[in-house]
Amino acid sequence: MYVGLDLGTSGLRALLVGEDGAPVASLSESYQTAHPHPGWSEQDPAVWVAAVDAVLTRMAAERPEDMAAVRGIGVSGHMHGAVCLDSAGAVVRPCILWNDTRSFAEAAALDATDDVRALSGNIVFPGFTAPKLAWMAAHEPDAFARVAHVVLPAGYMNFHLTGELFADMSDSAGTSWLDVGARDWSPRLLEAGGMARAQMPRLVEGSDVGGQLRQDLAARWGMTGTVAVVGGAGDNAASACGVGAMREGQGFVSLGTSGVLLTGRDGYAPLPESAVHTFCHAVPGQWYQMGVILAATDSLNWLSRVTGTAPADLAREVGDEISGPGRLRFLPYLSGERTPHNDARIRGGFLNIEQATDRRAMTQAVMEGVAFAIGDCALALRQTGVELQSLLAIGGGAASRYWVKTIATVLGVPLDLPEAGDFGAALGAARLAMVGCGAGTVEDVMVAPAVRETVAPDAALADAYAEAFQAYRATYPAVKDLP
Ligand code: XUL
Repeated sequence: MYVGLDLGTSGLRALLVGEDGAPVASLSESYQTAHPHPGWSEQDPAVWVAAVDAVLTRMAAERPEDMAAVRGIGVSGHMHGAVCLDSAGAVVRPCILWNDTRSFAEAAALDATDDVRALSGNIVFPGFTAPKLAWMAAHEPDAFARVAHVVLPAGYMNFHLTGELFADMSDSAGTSWLDVGARDWSPRLLEAGGMARAQMPRLVEGSDVGGQLRQDLAARWGMTGTVAVVGGAGDNAASACGVGAMREGQGFVSLGTSGVLLTGRDGYAPLPESAVHTFCHAVPGQWYQMGVILAATDSLNWLSRVTGTAPADLAREVGDEISGPGRLRFLPYLSGERTPHNDARIRGGFLNIEQATDRRAMTQAVMEGVAFAIGDCALALRQTGVELQSLLAIGGGAASRYWVKTIATVLGVPLDLPEAGDFGAALGAARLAMVGCGAGTVEDVMVAPAVRETVAPDAALADAYAEAFQAYRATYPAVKDLP
Protein backbone atom coordinates (compact mmCIF):
# COMPACT_ATOMS: atom_id res chain seq x y z
CA MET A 1 0.00 0.00 0.00
CA TYR A 2 1.08 3.57 -0.74
CA VAL A 3 -0.21 6.95 0.36
CA GLY A 4 -0.33 9.95 -1.96
CA LEU A 5 -0.83 13.25 -0.16
CA ASP A 6 -2.08 16.21 -2.18
CA LEU A 7 -1.36 19.32 -0.14
CA GLY A 8 -3.54 21.73 -2.12
CA THR A 9 -4.43 25.39 -1.74
CA SER A 10 -7.92 24.69 -0.42
CA GLY A 11 -7.32 21.40 1.39
CA LEU A 12 -5.31 18.24 1.87
CA ARG A 13 -6.29 14.91 0.35
CA ALA A 14 -4.86 11.50 1.14
CA LEU A 15 -5.23 8.70 -1.40
CA LEU A 16 -4.49 5.11 -0.48
CA VAL A 17 -3.25 3.04 -3.42
CA GLY A 18 -2.78 -0.73 -3.64
CA GLU A 19 0.30 -2.66 -4.84
CA ASP A 20 -1.27 -2.74 -8.34
CA GLY A 21 -1.52 1.08 -8.42
CA ALA A 22 -5.31 1.15 -8.10
CA PRO A 23 -6.80 3.69 -5.66
CA VAL A 24 -8.68 2.09 -2.76
CA ALA A 25 -9.67 4.99 -0.48
CA SER A 26 -9.49 8.74 -0.28
CA LEU A 27 -10.12 11.25 2.51
CA SER A 28 -9.72 14.99 2.60
CA GLU A 29 -9.80 17.94 4.93
CA SER A 30 -10.24 21.54 3.82
CA TYR A 31 -8.63 24.69 5.19
CA GLN A 32 -8.63 28.41 4.54
CA THR A 33 -6.21 30.90 3.05
CA ALA A 34 -5.69 34.22 4.83
CA HIS A 35 -5.61 37.45 2.80
CA PRO A 36 -4.41 39.98 5.41
CA HIS A 37 -3.89 42.67 2.73
CA PRO A 38 -4.99 42.98 -0.92
CA GLY A 39 -2.79 40.69 -3.05
CA TRP A 40 -1.51 38.76 -0.01
CA SER A 41 -2.18 35.06 0.40
CA GLU A 42 -0.90 33.10 3.41
CA GLN A 43 -1.32 29.80 5.24
CA ASP A 44 0.07 28.67 8.56
CA PRO A 45 1.90 25.35 7.95
CA ALA A 46 0.48 24.13 11.29
CA VAL A 47 -2.84 23.86 9.44
CA TRP A 48 -1.34 21.35 6.97
CA VAL A 49 0.12 19.33 9.87
CA ALA A 50 -3.29 19.23 11.57
CA ALA A 51 -4.97 18.25 8.26
CA VAL A 52 -2.58 15.36 7.53
CA ASP A 53 -3.05 14.06 11.05
CA ALA A 54 -6.83 14.32 10.77
CA VAL A 55 -7.05 12.43 7.45
CA LEU A 56 -4.51 9.71 8.25
CA THR A 57 -5.95 9.15 11.74
CA ARG A 58 -9.39 8.73 10.13
CA MET A 59 -7.93 6.46 7.45
CA ALA A 60 -6.30 4.32 10.16
CA ALA A 61 -9.66 3.98 11.93
CA GLU A 62 -11.51 3.12 8.70
CA ARG A 63 -8.95 0.85 7.03
CA PRO A 64 -6.57 -0.52 9.70
CA GLU A 65 -5.34 -3.46 7.61
CA ASP A 66 -4.53 -1.32 4.58
CA MET A 67 -2.76 1.29 6.71
CA ALA A 68 -0.70 -1.41 8.45
CA ALA A 69 0.58 -2.42 4.99
CA VAL A 70 1.72 1.06 3.88
CA ARG A 71 5.29 0.98 2.53
CA GLY A 72 5.68 4.43 1.04
CA ILE A 73 4.35 7.99 1.06
CA GLY A 74 4.63 10.66 -1.64
CA VAL A 75 3.67 14.30 -1.19
CA SER A 76 2.42 16.71 -3.86
CA GLY A 77 2.31 20.36 -2.85
CA HIS A 78 1.07 23.66 -4.19
CA MET A 79 4.16 25.22 -5.69
CA HIS A 80 6.31 28.29 -5.00
CA GLY A 81 5.20 28.94 -1.39
CA ALA A 82 7.96 29.98 1.04
CA VAL A 83 8.04 28.15 4.39
CA CYS A 84 10.80 29.77 6.44
CA LEU A 85 12.32 27.82 9.35
CA ASP A 86 14.66 29.00 12.09
CA SER A 87 17.71 27.03 13.24
CA ALA A 88 15.51 24.93 15.56
CA GLY A 89 13.17 24.02 12.67
CA ALA A 90 10.34 26.27 13.90
CA VAL A 91 8.24 28.18 11.35
CA VAL A 92 9.30 31.85 11.29
CA ARG A 93 6.18 33.37 9.67
CA PRO A 94 3.10 32.10 7.77
CA CYS A 95 3.81 30.59 4.37
CA ILE A 96 3.51 33.12 1.53
CA LEU A 97 1.62 31.26 -1.24
CA TRP A 98 1.97 30.93 -5.02
CA ASN A 99 -0.93 33.33 -5.67
CA ASP A 100 0.47 36.10 -3.43
CA THR A 101 1.59 39.06 -5.57
CA ARG A 102 3.14 41.34 -2.92
CA SER A 103 6.65 40.75 -4.24
CA PHE A 104 5.98 41.91 -7.82
CA ALA A 105 8.67 44.63 -7.61
CA GLU A 106 11.29 42.20 -6.25
CA ALA A 107 10.29 39.70 -8.97
CA ALA A 108 10.77 42.30 -11.71
CA ALA A 109 14.17 43.28 -10.26
CA LEU A 110 15.36 39.66 -10.06
CA ASP A 111 13.96 38.94 -13.53
CA ALA A 112 16.07 41.79 -14.91
CA THR A 113 19.26 40.54 -13.19
CA ASP A 114 21.93 39.07 -15.47
CA ASP A 115 21.91 35.27 -15.83
CA VAL A 116 18.68 34.79 -13.85
CA ARG A 117 16.43 33.80 -16.77
CA ALA A 118 19.25 31.87 -18.44
CA LEU A 119 19.97 29.73 -15.35
CA SER A 120 16.45 29.31 -13.98
CA GLY A 121 14.97 28.79 -17.47
CA ASN A 122 11.97 30.91 -16.53
CA ILE A 123 10.70 34.41 -16.00
CA VAL A 124 10.79 35.26 -12.29
CA PHE A 125 7.01 35.51 -11.88
CA PRO A 126 5.71 37.44 -8.86
CA GLY A 127 4.37 34.17 -7.36
CA PHE A 128 7.75 32.40 -7.40
CA THR A 129 9.76 31.84 -4.22
CA ALA A 130 12.96 33.91 -4.59
CA PRO A 131 11.18 37.31 -4.76
CA LYS A 132 9.23 36.42 -1.60
CA LEU A 133 12.49 36.12 0.36
CA ALA A 134 13.75 39.35 -1.21
CA TRP A 135 10.52 41.00 -0.03
CA MET A 136 11.07 39.65 3.49
CA ALA A 137 14.64 40.97 3.50
CA ALA A 138 13.31 44.44 2.69
CA HIS A 139 10.09 44.48 4.76
CA GLU A 140 10.60 41.98 7.60
CA PRO A 141 14.36 42.15 8.26
CA ASP A 142 14.10 40.61 11.75
CA ALA A 143 12.18 37.58 10.49
CA PHE A 144 14.49 37.31 7.47
CA ALA A 145 17.55 37.27 9.74
CA ARG A 146 16.14 34.20 11.54
CA VAL A 147 15.65 32.16 8.34
CA ALA A 148 17.96 29.15 8.61
CA HIS A 149 16.11 27.09 5.96
CA VAL A 150 13.49 27.65 3.27
CA VAL A 151 11.30 24.83 1.99
CA LEU A 152 8.21 24.72 -0.18
CA PRO A 153 4.90 23.29 1.13
CA ALA A 154 5.69 19.70 -0.02
CA GLY A 155 9.20 20.02 1.44
CA TYR A 156 7.73 21.16 4.75
CA MET A 157 5.41 18.15 4.78
CA ASN A 158 8.43 15.91 4.07
CA PHE A 159 10.18 17.59 7.03
CA HIS A 160 7.18 17.01 9.28
CA LEU A 161 6.93 13.36 8.21
CA THR A 162 10.63 12.48 8.46
CA GLY A 163 12.46 15.19 10.43
CA GLU A 164 14.70 15.70 7.37
CA LEU A 165 14.94 18.63 5.00
CA PHE A 166 14.70 17.39 1.42
CA ALA A 167 12.90 18.52 -1.69
CA ASP A 168 12.29 17.19 -5.17
CA MET A 169 13.48 18.75 -8.43
CA SER A 170 10.06 19.59 -9.90
CA ASP A 171 9.02 21.77 -6.97
CA SER A 172 12.49 23.25 -6.49
CA ALA A 173 12.44 24.34 -10.16
CA GLY A 174 9.77 26.91 -9.27
CA THR A 175 11.93 28.79 -6.78
CA SER A 176 14.19 30.78 -9.19
CA TRP A 177 17.14 29.41 -7.15
CA LEU A 178 17.54 26.16 -9.10
CA ASP A 179 19.65 25.69 -12.21
CA VAL A 180 16.81 23.85 -13.96
CA GLY A 181 19.00 22.37 -16.71
CA ALA A 182 21.63 21.09 -14.24
CA ARG A 183 19.05 19.99 -11.61
CA ASP A 184 21.06 21.61 -8.82
CA TRP A 185 20.96 24.75 -6.67
CA SER A 186 22.68 27.56 -8.56
CA PRO A 187 25.29 29.56 -6.61
CA ARG A 188 24.66 32.52 -8.94
CA LEU A 189 20.87 32.45 -8.51
CA LEU A 190 21.18 32.05 -4.74
CA GLU A 191 23.54 35.01 -4.63
CA ALA A 192 21.17 37.11 -6.77
CA GLY A 193 18.34 36.28 -4.35
CA GLY A 194 20.41 36.99 -1.22
CA MET A 195 20.33 33.34 -0.12
CA ALA A 196 22.93 30.66 0.72
CA ARG A 197 23.10 27.00 -0.25
CA ALA A 198 23.12 26.03 3.45
CA GLN A 199 19.55 27.39 3.66
CA MET A 200 18.33 25.06 0.90
CA PRO A 201 17.00 21.53 1.45
CA ARG A 202 18.85 18.47 0.13
CA LEU A 203 17.74 17.77 -3.46
CA VAL A 204 16.37 14.38 -4.47
CA GLU A 205 14.42 13.18 -7.49
CA GLY A 206 10.67 12.95 -6.81
CA SER A 207 10.73 9.16 -7.16
CA ASP A 208 13.78 8.70 -4.90
CA VAL A 209 13.46 7.95 -1.21
CA GLY A 210 14.35 11.05 0.82
CA GLY A 211 13.79 9.73 4.35
CA GLN A 212 11.76 7.40 6.57
CA LEU A 213 8.48 8.19 8.29
CA ARG A 214 9.03 9.12 11.97
CA GLN A 215 8.31 6.19 14.30
CA ASP A 216 5.83 8.16 16.40
CA LEU A 217 3.76 9.11 13.33
CA ALA A 218 3.91 5.57 11.93
CA ALA A 219 2.60 4.22 15.24
CA ARG A 220 -0.10 6.92 15.44
CA TRP A 221 -1.37 6.09 11.93
CA GLY A 222 -1.19 2.33 12.40
CA MET A 223 1.66 1.76 9.95
CA THR A 224 3.67 -1.25 11.09
CA GLY A 225 6.77 -1.55 8.87
CA THR A 226 9.39 0.94 7.74
CA VAL A 227 7.68 3.59 5.62
CA ALA A 228 9.71 5.42 2.98
CA VAL A 229 8.95 9.05 2.09
CA VAL A 230 9.96 9.94 -1.47
CA GLY A 231 10.90 13.38 -2.79
CA GLY A 232 7.35 13.96 -4.07
CA ALA A 233 6.51 16.76 -6.52
CA GLY A 234 5.01 20.15 -7.21
CA ASP A 235 1.32 19.72 -7.97
CA ASN A 236 1.49 20.06 -11.75
CA ALA A 237 4.30 17.50 -12.05
CA ALA A 238 2.38 15.21 -9.70
CA SER A 239 -0.76 15.57 -11.84
CA ALA A 240 1.36 14.71 -14.88
CA CYS A 241 2.54 11.55 -13.09
CA GLY A 242 -1.12 10.78 -12.31
CA VAL A 243 -2.09 10.82 -16.02
CA GLY A 244 1.14 9.44 -17.47
CA ALA A 245 2.29 12.72 -19.06
CA MET A 246 6.01 12.03 -18.70
CA ARG A 247 7.65 11.89 -22.13
CA GLU A 248 7.78 14.08 -25.20
CA GLY A 249 4.32 14.32 -26.77
CA GLN A 250 2.38 13.25 -23.65
CA GLY A 251 0.38 16.09 -22.16
CA PHE A 252 -2.86 17.48 -20.84
CA VAL A 253 -5.12 20.48 -20.76
CA SER A 254 -6.37 21.05 -17.23
CA LEU A 255 -9.47 23.20 -16.76
CA GLY A 256 -9.31 23.91 -13.05
CA THR A 257 -9.45 27.21 -11.16
CA SER A 258 -6.44 28.07 -13.28
CA GLY A 259 -5.82 26.51 -16.69
CA VAL A 260 -2.72 24.53 -17.58
CA LEU A 261 -1.47 23.21 -20.91
CA LEU A 262 1.34 20.82 -19.99
CA THR A 263 3.56 18.47 -21.92
CA GLY A 264 6.44 16.19 -20.94
CA ARG A 265 9.87 16.90 -22.47
CA ASP A 266 12.73 14.47 -22.99
CA GLY A 267 15.23 17.34 -22.94
CA TYR A 268 15.65 20.82 -21.52
CA ALA A 269 14.44 23.49 -23.98
CA PRO A 270 13.65 26.66 -22.04
CA LEU A 271 12.17 29.75 -23.70
CA PRO A 272 11.54 32.18 -20.85
CA GLU A 273 10.55 35.10 -23.08
CA SER A 274 7.45 33.11 -24.19
CA ALA A 275 6.29 33.00 -20.53
CA VAL A 276 6.19 29.21 -20.82
CA HIS A 277 7.20 27.51 -17.56
CA THR A 278 10.07 25.05 -18.00
CA PHE A 279 10.51 22.85 -14.92
CA CYS A 280 12.23 19.59 -14.01
CA HIS A 281 9.83 16.68 -14.03
CA ALA A 282 9.47 14.59 -10.88
CA VAL A 283 11.47 11.68 -12.32
CA PRO A 284 15.15 11.64 -13.36
CA GLY A 285 16.17 12.86 -16.81
CA GLN A 286 12.80 14.41 -17.68
CA TRP A 287 11.48 17.96 -17.81
CA TYR A 288 8.04 19.38 -18.54
CA GLN A 289 6.77 22.61 -19.97
CA MET A 290 3.49 24.34 -19.39
CA GLY A 291 1.56 27.45 -20.16
CA VAL A 292 -0.46 28.68 -17.17
CA ILE A 293 -3.55 30.90 -17.34
CA LEU A 294 -4.80 32.21 -14.04
CA ALA A 295 -8.61 32.01 -14.52
CA ALA A 296 -10.10 29.01 -16.34
CA THR A 297 -13.12 27.63 -14.42
CA ASP A 298 -12.61 30.70 -12.26
CA SER A 299 -13.92 32.74 -15.22
CA LEU A 300 -17.09 30.64 -15.40
CA ASN A 301 -17.40 30.83 -11.61
CA TRP A 302 -17.24 34.60 -11.87
CA LEU A 303 -20.05 34.61 -14.49
CA SER A 304 -21.99 32.26 -12.26
CA ARG A 305 -21.70 34.70 -9.35
CA VAL A 306 -22.84 37.74 -11.33
CA THR A 307 -25.71 35.94 -13.08
CA GLY A 308 -26.80 33.95 -10.03
CA THR A 309 -26.75 30.76 -12.12
CA ALA A 310 -24.75 27.67 -11.12
CA PRO A 311 -21.75 26.93 -13.40
CA ALA A 312 -23.26 23.56 -14.39
CA ASP A 313 -26.50 25.31 -15.44
CA LEU A 314 -24.56 27.87 -17.48
CA ALA A 315 -22.73 24.99 -19.17
CA ARG A 316 -26.02 23.19 -19.83
CA GLU A 317 -27.43 26.31 -21.51
CA VAL A 318 -24.78 26.27 -24.26
CA GLY A 319 -25.37 22.56 -24.95
CA ASP A 320 -22.86 19.99 -26.20
CA GLU A 321 -22.26 20.92 -29.83
CA ILE A 322 -20.40 23.97 -31.11
CA SER A 323 -21.70 25.92 -34.12
CA GLY A 324 -19.02 28.59 -34.59
CA PRO A 325 -17.65 31.41 -32.44
CA GLY A 326 -19.75 34.38 -31.42
CA ARG A 327 -18.70 38.01 -31.97
CA LEU A 328 -18.88 38.62 -28.24
CA ARG A 329 -15.31 38.42 -27.00
CA PHE A 330 -14.19 37.70 -23.41
CA LEU A 331 -10.70 38.31 -22.03
CA PRO A 332 -10.19 35.92 -19.07
CA TYR A 333 -7.56 38.03 -17.29
CA LEU A 334 -9.51 38.26 -14.02
CA SER A 335 -6.35 37.99 -11.89
CA GLY A 336 -3.81 39.18 -14.47
CA GLU A 337 -2.10 36.66 -16.72
CA ARG A 338 1.02 34.50 -16.76
CA THR A 339 1.35 32.85 -20.22
CA PRO A 340 1.92 34.50 -22.61
CA HIS A 341 1.68 38.05 -21.23
CA ASN A 342 3.36 37.92 -17.80
CA ASP A 343 1.14 40.83 -16.83
CA ALA A 344 -0.03 41.07 -13.21
CA ARG A 345 -1.91 44.33 -13.90
CA ILE A 346 -4.12 43.39 -16.88
CA ARG A 347 -7.77 42.63 -16.12
CA GLY A 348 -10.55 40.89 -18.05
CA GLY A 349 -13.37 42.28 -20.14
CA PHE A 350 -16.19 41.74 -22.62
CA LEU A 351 -16.09 43.31 -26.10
CA ASN A 352 -18.86 43.65 -28.72
CA ILE A 353 -21.80 43.55 -26.33
CA GLU A 354 -25.02 44.24 -28.30
CA GLN A 355 -28.77 44.47 -27.63
CA ALA A 356 -29.22 40.75 -28.26
CA THR A 357 -26.42 39.69 -25.89
CA ASP A 358 -27.86 37.36 -23.27
CA ARG A 359 -26.54 35.02 -20.59
CA ARG A 360 -26.04 32.15 -23.01
CA ALA A 361 -23.93 34.34 -25.31
CA MET A 362 -21.85 35.42 -22.31
CA THR A 363 -21.23 31.82 -21.26
CA GLN A 364 -20.19 30.94 -24.80
CA ALA A 365 -17.85 33.96 -24.88
CA VAL A 366 -16.33 33.02 -21.49
CA MET A 367 -15.66 29.46 -22.68
CA GLU A 368 -14.23 30.75 -25.97
CA GLY A 369 -12.06 33.33 -24.18
CA VAL A 370 -10.55 30.60 -21.99
CA ALA A 371 -10.09 28.39 -25.08
CA PHE A 372 -8.27 31.23 -26.86
CA ALA A 373 -6.09 31.85 -23.79
CA ILE A 374 -5.15 28.16 -23.90
CA GLY A 375 -4.57 28.63 -27.63
CA ASP A 376 -2.07 31.36 -26.70
CA CYS A 377 -0.33 28.84 -24.40
CA ALA A 378 -0.18 26.35 -27.27
CA LEU A 379 1.46 28.94 -29.54
CA ALA A 380 4.01 29.67 -26.81
CA LEU A 381 4.69 25.96 -26.21
CA ARG A 382 5.04 25.28 -29.94
CA GLN A 383 7.75 27.97 -30.11
CA THR A 384 9.87 25.74 -27.83
CA GLY A 385 9.70 22.91 -30.37
CA VAL A 386 6.86 20.98 -28.74
CA GLU A 387 4.56 19.00 -31.01
CA LEU A 388 1.05 18.72 -29.65
CA GLN A 389 -0.53 15.65 -31.22
CA SER A 390 -3.14 14.64 -28.69
CA LEU A 391 -3.84 15.72 -25.13
CA LEU A 392 -5.94 14.56 -22.21
CA ALA A 393 -8.62 16.99 -21.02
CA ILE A 394 -8.91 16.97 -17.23
CA GLY A 395 -10.24 19.18 -14.43
CA GLY A 396 -13.77 20.28 -13.57
CA GLY A 397 -14.28 22.28 -16.79
CA ALA A 398 -13.74 19.14 -18.90
CA ALA A 399 -17.24 18.04 -17.86
CA SER A 400 -18.51 20.48 -20.53
CA ARG A 401 -18.26 18.78 -23.94
CA TYR A 402 -18.94 22.16 -25.56
CA TRP A 403 -15.88 23.66 -23.85
CA VAL A 404 -13.67 20.69 -24.69
CA LYS A 405 -14.82 20.74 -28.35
CA THR A 406 -14.11 24.49 -28.55
CA ILE A 407 -10.59 23.99 -27.17
CA ALA A 408 -9.91 21.01 -29.48
CA THR A 409 -10.97 23.12 -32.48
CA VAL A 410 -8.94 26.20 -31.41
CA LEU A 411 -5.82 24.06 -30.80
CA GLY A 412 -6.39 21.80 -33.80
CA VAL A 413 -5.61 18.87 -31.49
CA PRO A 414 -7.89 15.95 -30.48
CA LEU A 415 -8.62 15.90 -26.75
CA ASP A 416 -9.06 12.61 -24.89
CA LEU A 417 -11.61 12.49 -22.09
CA PRO A 418 -10.57 9.93 -19.46
CA GLU A 419 -13.00 7.45 -17.99
CA ALA A 420 -14.28 8.50 -14.57
CA GLY A 421 -11.75 7.70 -11.88
CA ASP A 422 -8.90 9.04 -9.89
CA PHE A 423 -6.00 10.59 -11.71
CA GLY A 424 -5.09 13.76 -9.83
CA ALA A 425 -1.99 14.96 -8.02
CA ALA A 426 -2.60 12.57 -5.09
CA LEU A 427 -2.41 9.58 -7.46
CA GLY A 428 0.77 11.00 -9.01
CA ALA A 429 2.30 11.38 -5.54
CA ALA A 430 1.35 7.78 -4.63
CA ARG A 431 2.87 6.61 -7.92
CA LEU A 432 6.15 8.36 -7.06
CA ALA A 433 6.14 6.42 -3.76
CA MET A 434 5.53 3.17 -5.70
CA VAL A 435 8.54 3.80 -7.95
CA GLY A 436 10.67 4.79 -4.94
CA CYS A 437 9.77 1.56 -3.15
CA GLY A 438 10.57 -0.58 -6.19
CA ALA A 439 6.96 -1.52 -7.04
CA GLY A 440 7.69 -0.77 -10.71
CA THR A 441 9.54 1.49 -13.12
CA VAL A 442 8.36 4.92 -14.23
CA GLU A 443 7.17 3.31 -17.50
CA ASP A 444 5.19 0.62 -15.65
CA VAL A 445 3.61 2.86 -13.07
CA MET A 446 3.01 6.28 -14.69
CA VAL A 447 0.44 5.10 -17.22
CA ALA A 448 -2.35 7.07 -18.91
CA PRO A 449 -5.95 6.50 -17.83
CA ALA A 450 -8.42 4.66 -20.08
CA VAL A 451 -10.04 7.05 -22.56
CA ARG A 452 -13.83 7.34 -22.60
CA GLU A 453 -14.09 9.52 -25.69
CA THR A 454 -11.80 11.41 -28.07
CA VAL A 455 -13.15 14.84 -28.95
CA ALA A 456 -11.81 15.77 -32.39
CA PRO A 457 -11.46 19.34 -33.70
CA ASP A 458 -14.42 20.38 -35.88
CA ALA A 459 -12.74 20.65 -39.30
CA ALA A 460 -15.66 22.50 -40.89
CA LEU A 461 -15.50 25.23 -38.24
CA ALA A 462 -11.70 25.42 -37.91
CA ASP A 463 -11.35 28.54 -40.09
CA ALA A 464 -14.08 30.42 -38.23
CA TYR A 465 -12.40 29.72 -34.86
CA ALA A 466 -8.96 30.58 -36.29
CA GLU A 467 -10.31 33.96 -37.39
CA ALA A 468 -11.92 34.60 -34.00
CA PHE A 469 -8.62 33.57 -32.32
CA GLN A 470 -6.78 36.20 -34.37
CA ALA A 471 -9.33 38.82 -33.28
CA TYR A 472 -8.84 37.72 -29.65
CA ARG A 473 -5.06 37.98 -30.00
CA ALA A 474 -5.37 41.53 -31.35
CA THR A 475 -7.29 42.63 -28.26
CA TYR A 476 -4.59 42.37 -25.55
CA PRO A 477 -2.13 44.74 -27.26
CA ALA A 478 -5.01 47.14 -27.91
CA VAL A 479 -6.15 47.32 -24.26
CA LYS A 480 -3.05 46.59 -22.19
CA ASP A 481 -1.95 50.20 -21.74
CA LEU A 482 -5.40 51.60 -21.00
CA PRO A 483 -5.53 53.10 -17.51
C1 XUL B 1 2.21 26.68 -11.00
C2 XUL B 1 1.35 27.35 -10.00
C3 XUL B 1 0.14 26.66 -9.50
C4 XUL B 1 0.40 26.20 -8.09
C5 XUL B 1 -0.86 25.95 -7.30
O1 XUL B 1 3.28 27.44 -11.44
O2 XUL B 1 1.61 28.44 -9.56
O3 XUL B 1 -0.27 25.63 -10.34
O4 XUL B 1 1.25 25.09 -8.11
O5 XUL B 1 -1.59 24.91 -7.68
